[in-house]
Order: sequence, then C-alpha cells, then structure tokens
Amino acid sequence: MILNSFSRMHRYRQSPNLRKMLSEHKLHRSDFIYPLFVSEQLKDGEKAPIDGLPGVFQYSVESVLDECDRAVSKGILSIILFGIPTVKDLKASKSYVSDGVVQRAIKRIKSKYPDLYIIADLCLCAYTSHGHCGVIEHDEIDNDETLLIMNKIANSYAVAGVDCVAPSGMMDGTVQSLRNSLDSANYSSVSIMAYSAKFESSLYGPFREASGVSDSFKGDRKGYQIAPTQYKEGLMEASLDFEEGSDFVIVKPALWYMDVIKTLSEEGPLPVVGYHVSGEYSMIKAAGKAGMIDESLAMREAMLCLKRSGCSLIISYAACDVVCDSI
Ligand code: PBG
Ligand code: ZN
Repeated sequence: MILNSFSRMHRYRQSPNLRKMLSEHKLHRSDFIYPLFVSEQLKDGEKAPIDGLPGVFQYSVESVLDECDRAVSKGILSIILFGIPTVKDLKASKSYVSDGVVQRAIKRIKSKYPDLYIIADLCLCAYTSHGHCGVIEHDEIDNDETLLIMNKIANSYAVAGVDCVAPSGMMDGTVQSLRNSLDSANYSSVSIMAYSAKFESSLYGPFREASGVSDSFKGDRKGYQIAPTQYKEGLMEASLDFEEGSDFVIVKPALWYMDVIKTLSEEGPLPVVGYHVSGEYSMIKAAGKAGMIDESLAMREAMLCLKRSGCSLIISYAACDVVCDSI
C-alpha cells in the first residue's frame, strides 16, 4: 500500500481538539515581558497616548501602578521600564539619580508587587540632549566614558530594587563592565539582559516618539548598531555578551531577524528574548485599523511564530491583549 501522507495530515487537522493537542507551540502568560514608559513630565493619575503606538501610553510614576494592576490581573509576570526625564544634557546626568523617574517607579512597583520581575532598560539616549545612546566626544561616541555612566545607572536601579537591567546601547564591553560593577557593589543577584543582537532598524520610529528621543535625535545609530545584512555579527555579539556574563540575549527587531533567533536558540546557551518592537507592533495595528487584516489574529500569529523560531520570552506592547485570550 502506498502511504498517503495527505490523508494523515488531513486526519491530524480535522478535529479541533486534536489540533490543540498536537500544537507544537502554545502561548502562555509567562512568555511575555510588558514594556512600560514612565515619564517625569506627567503627574498623578495622568497618562499620555503615543500617536505612533496605538493603545500604548506614557505613565506617571503614580499612574504606572494602575497599569501594573491591569497587567498583573491579566497574569503578566514581568515588565520592562523605559524612562522619560524632564531634563536632558550632554552627559545624561539625570539617568542615575536616586530620585529619577525609573528609580522611583521601580521602588514603587516593587513595594506593591514584590514578585513582579522588573527589568529596567539601561541606556543614555532618553537622557542625552542629542539623543545618542552614549556620550559624544569630538563627534564620536566615547565608549569608555559611556560605560562608566552605565555602571552608575545600573547601580541606581539596583538600589531601587530592580531584578534585571537591560543595556540597550550596544557599547563595547557593556556586559562585563556592568557585571563587575554590580558584583562589587554586592548586587550579584541582579541579572543582565543584554540587547546583544540589536539591528540598526527602521522599525524603532514609534519608540523614539514614545521615549521622547525623536525631537532631539537627528543622526543614525549605524556606528554602534548592527546593519540588517549582518547575520554573523548578530551571532558574534551574542557570544561576546555570553562570555562577558549576560544572563539573556535579546534579538531585536524580532520577526525580520528570526534567522538570528533560531540559530541562537538552537546553538547558544542563553535564553533568547525576542523584542517585537514598536514598528512591528504599529504595522499590525495600522493594517488592522485600515481593515486589511484582523489585528488580534495577526498579533497572536506573530507571537506564536516567535515561539516557533525559538524565543524563550517575548517583549511585546501587546502582551496584555495577547495573553488574555490564551491563558
Ligand atoms: C534605546 C532603545 C530603543 C529601543 C529599545 N531601547 C531604540 C533605539 O535604539 O533607537 C527600541 C524599541 C522599540 O522600537 O520598540 N536604546
Ligand atoms: Zn539608546
């Protein structure tokens, strides 16, 4: 008898229950990290919508707690915080003050939700007047001076009670410098989630509006982020960060860089975190709004496919919406 493989596939697919039973990948609330923007420019119960990121808001240190209530009630286990200060300068001096907006938010959220795994994005770009991710000297990034400032930021987040810092600036030697600095201040328990494979992408536009960088930032990040053509550089950056002591590797954007995710998850030792970035999110939202696609189906499919590609965790602006129908 000739094996008829079509019939077998057909049999697998005809029962809704069997389809669920055989599903190789499922979404669970524990897969997600929910990004939150905290702005020093907002007060009390205020929250401000972000034009380029429909459904996403900037929160005050007070109102971010309400959003945490909502996220926790949906079953979210982890958040990542981004800060928007009122004062920017050449040396990002407001990024490491103990009463900074992120430091205050960490303290506040931790005291209400001690188990919520709080990650804080660690970068200078929201705090520098020019919007670059590092200090600029003679028209170039001063890598080492930037590292010293990043150490101070990490320390201030650790004092506030953060669980994990996520350096997103792509400066050389970041992870080693942060690990040494945290360890010597007795914060060995604070993890590092490095944005190891961060590509110089057109998909960060809405984020730059959300984080208040777009007005000041005129250049590009080609000098420190990976060009979209450079698959091997993505792998190299990830192995350097592993050797330097990172606990996780982030690949971002996620969907267009799935080849990197797949290889790192199959061959690398660290949990891979896919960052479904602002542009990826907003494209789905915009197409949904225009009636071209079903937004929630598309968002769910994106997340499921990221799991299939090997992500252990997914950072997504849609985290609360996607999980609610999939727990
Ligand atoms: C800052 C940072 C960026 C993102 C996360 N951290 C933007 C950038 O590098 O310009 C992008 C996230 C997103 O687009 O959702 N270093
Ligand atoms: Zn940055």
